[in-house]
Amino acid sequence: MPEFVAILDFGSQYTQLIARRIREQKVYCEILKCDTSPEELSSRQLKGIILSGGPSGVYEEDAPRCNPAIFDLNVPILGICYGMQLGCEILGGKVVPAQHREYGSTEIEISQEDDLFSGLDTSTTVWMSHGDRVTDIEEGFDTIAKTENCPHAGIRHRESGFRGIQFHPEVTHTPEGTTILRNFLYSICNCSGDWSLSRFIDEKTAELKETIGSKNVVLGLSGGVDSSVVALLLDRSIGKQLTCIFVDNGVLRKDEREQVRTMFTDNYEFNLRVVNATELFLNNLAGVVDPEEKRKRIGNTFIDVFKEEAADIPDVEFLAQGTLYPDVIESISPIGGPSATIKSHHNVGGLPEQLGFELVEPLRSLFKDEVRQIGKELGLAPELLHRQPFPGPGLAVRVLGEVTADNLDILRNADVIIQEEIEQWEGYPGIWQSFGVLLPVQTVGVMGDQRTYDNVIALRIVESLDGMTANWIHLPQEILASISSRICNEVHGINRVVLDISSKPPSTIEWE
Ligand code: XMP
Repeated sequence: MPEFVAILDFGSQYTQLIARRIREQKVYCEILKCDTSPEELSSRQLKGIILSGGPSGVYEEDAPRCNPAIFDLNVPILGICYGMQLGCEILGGKVVPAQHREYGSTEIEISQEDDLFSGLDTSTTVWMSHGDRVTDIEEGFDTIAKTENCPHAGIRHRESGFRGIQFHPEVTHTPEGTTILRNFLYSICNCSGDWSLSRFIDEKTAELKETIGSKNVVLGLSGGVDSSVVALLLDRSIGKQLTCIFVDNGVLRKDEREQVRTMFTDNYEFNLRVVNATELFLNNLAGVVDPEEKRKRIGNTFIDVFKEEAADIPDVEFLAQGTLYPDVIESISPIGGPSATIKSHHNVGGLPEQLGFELVEPLRSLFKDEVRQIGKELGLAPELLHRQPFPGPGLAVRVLGEVTADNLDILRNADVIIQEEIEQWEGYPGIWQSFGVLLPVQTVGVMGDQRTYDNVIALRIVESLDGMTANWIHLPQEILASISSRICNEVHGINRVVLDISSKPPSTIEWE
């Protein structure tokens, strides 16, 4: 069991970042509900606790709280912003709304030596974002840092060793933030830094072998990174007891079914079933224009097809899924995940209950880039490793309005051109997603001497770290020009190309 640091989540938009930063320092950490019990925490090799920031004020009626008994666990605790205020309040300090809200970069002065700040200059830039502040800490506390507006920007409780900081060490706007977190982990919590992805692979492989025993496992393989990495891990652990099922739902990109089949059969030996269910999916989508209804129908049809396929594999007891940590975290935050209810993303959610299988989710504690690194260590083919994310409902949410075989063909042909052109750009690796959206409008054009009345393709090309926020990319004009002229010339049914210049928020990445 690796040593671990618990991050109790009070709803800050930065909580995931804290976890990322800590794992980068080779310490395993998990984000847990803010009221996780001391017993649960101490049942593992707990080295320290971080109380995250959050949008509430500690004296608000419904403010989320931790169990005060965690302060008796005898492990170091660091409170960040709201976490600092809560800790101070529990330990006898006084918190009031600040007269000046501080938001943004500011200079702090380190006013007393502390292990948390070792290696730092006495004045350093930090990122503040808070409304309340700690005002009265005479009893039992030391002030270890201050700013012009904030007399207690860093504090230490003498008896318990609790430390609080009123700024965010996890964001890049705090240049020495990593040093501060590292000091907490290594000088204060005495972590040994035993977390690594190769250790994860070894431990997971052994754990899966033990859990699964001699039973069989099915996995819905999408051809994306997550399910491919799950397949590789299971292959390593249980070999032929795994059957992967790839369902062509009729809304894939051009030639995708055969590309995925070839990629897997050329490189790996696990059992792979490829099911062409195009007709069934398109029939079920006929006449549907509402995006959520499209998602629902695709999800339900997928469940039907998958159930039928899995039914004739003997002795199946487990269903494997590529659930990642951000999905798990969404259900932990006291304020709900940021995009939890905007689009219903997880369209295979109904599968385990319906099939009566037990779930295996070997990646549920990992972030996307950690999954990519594991894929790399397991030898995942580069063309799979660097695939852009592709939504479960596929092109159905990129053909706006009704999804028909003809519309899908038009979009597929345009999509191929977009990818071909954009892959030549040196900035391609920095793109999160690049695709076309077929708009349900017709516009007048002229081709040769002929009037045309055809559809419009919108280009959606964004950069993003995790899909939660995104910026549109300023592509070189030559690339845009060649995408546009090639689409209009080569794709029958399109006479106009437009560029989507919206970021997320307020837009989303997909149009539906
Ligand atoms: P949005 O459009 O919400 O998308 O900004 C964020 C990321 O999620 C993908 N996405 C989906 N993935 N099922 C999925 O598996 C879905 O229904 C779905 N909708 C959006 C999207 O491609 C982007 O990467």
